[in-house]
Amino acid sequence: MLFKKKAKKDLQNENVDIKDVVKNCGLRHIAFIMDGNGRWAKRRSLPREAGHKVGASTFKKVVKYCSDIGIDTITVYAFSTENWTRPKREVEALMRLLDVYIKTANDEDDENRVKYVFLGDKEALGEELKAKCIQLEQFTAHYNKTLNVALNYGGRAEIVHAVNEALRSGVTEITEDDISKNLYTANSPDPDLIVRTAGEVRLSNFLMWQSAYSEFYFTDVLWPDMSPDEVDKAIIDFSNRKRNFGGVQNA
Ligand code: FPP
Repeated sequence: MLFKKKAKKDLQNENVDIKDVVKNCGLRHIAFIMDGNGRWAKRRSLPREAGHKVGASTFKKVVKYCSDIGIDTITVYAFSTENWTRPKREVEALMRLLDVYIKTANDEDDENRVKYVFLGDKEALGEELKAKCIQLEQFTAHYNKTLNVALNYGGRAEIVHAVNEALRSGVTEITEDDISKNLYTANSPDPDLIVRTAGEVRLSNFLMWQSAYSEFYFTDVLWPDMSPDEVDKAIIDFSNRKRNFGGVQNA
């Protein structure tokens, strides 16, 4: 039997420039489900909050890396609508991290020169945090690359919100386009690749509508240990996938 040898890209075997891979494989939008902060801390006998602290610094590095190698849109799942049920101390620690993060992102010298868009219902964040999120969105609106931060976000709630917005605008029969243009991600393309860390293989109410044709990459690496090399692995894997979007190739 004849096997056609597939020319797979492999960073170890070939001298591949990841920027070329990104450009050639059509990866415009990468999304991360940043999982495993708690386990990372537990393995070191540290409180869960310590895992989130390192996770926040990893988040910053990964965003910078993705933007440097030419990815236009990055989305991260920072806090879901379900995360409010975590212990008060953990929720407060996450909100504090976010507050510090927003402060540094507001700095003109901040290395992450991206347009911030917060996905989710800002009302539950409290007046102060809500105002800071809006201010950061306005302050960074002129940058070309986009960082979507899903905060108090749930995919199903987002679809319900989009339908209600469409109805409010007077639409009587809802089309897919009515929903897409009323999602929090209305100005971003759908994610090409969704990466989830920490060995969990599920979507957890993240980008439910937008992920219809996304590719998925799962790794056992815990989020605080996520590195440029691990991001490269996900991208190389993605670049070797065949995407048909429901059609056929070479029919
Ligand atoms: C999931 O890990 C992670 C979260 C619920 C929060 C993600 C937040 C960060 C990476 C840092 C903060 C982000 C910003 C924007 C400053 P887990 O706690 O569920 O881990 P586990 O499954 O191992 O317990």
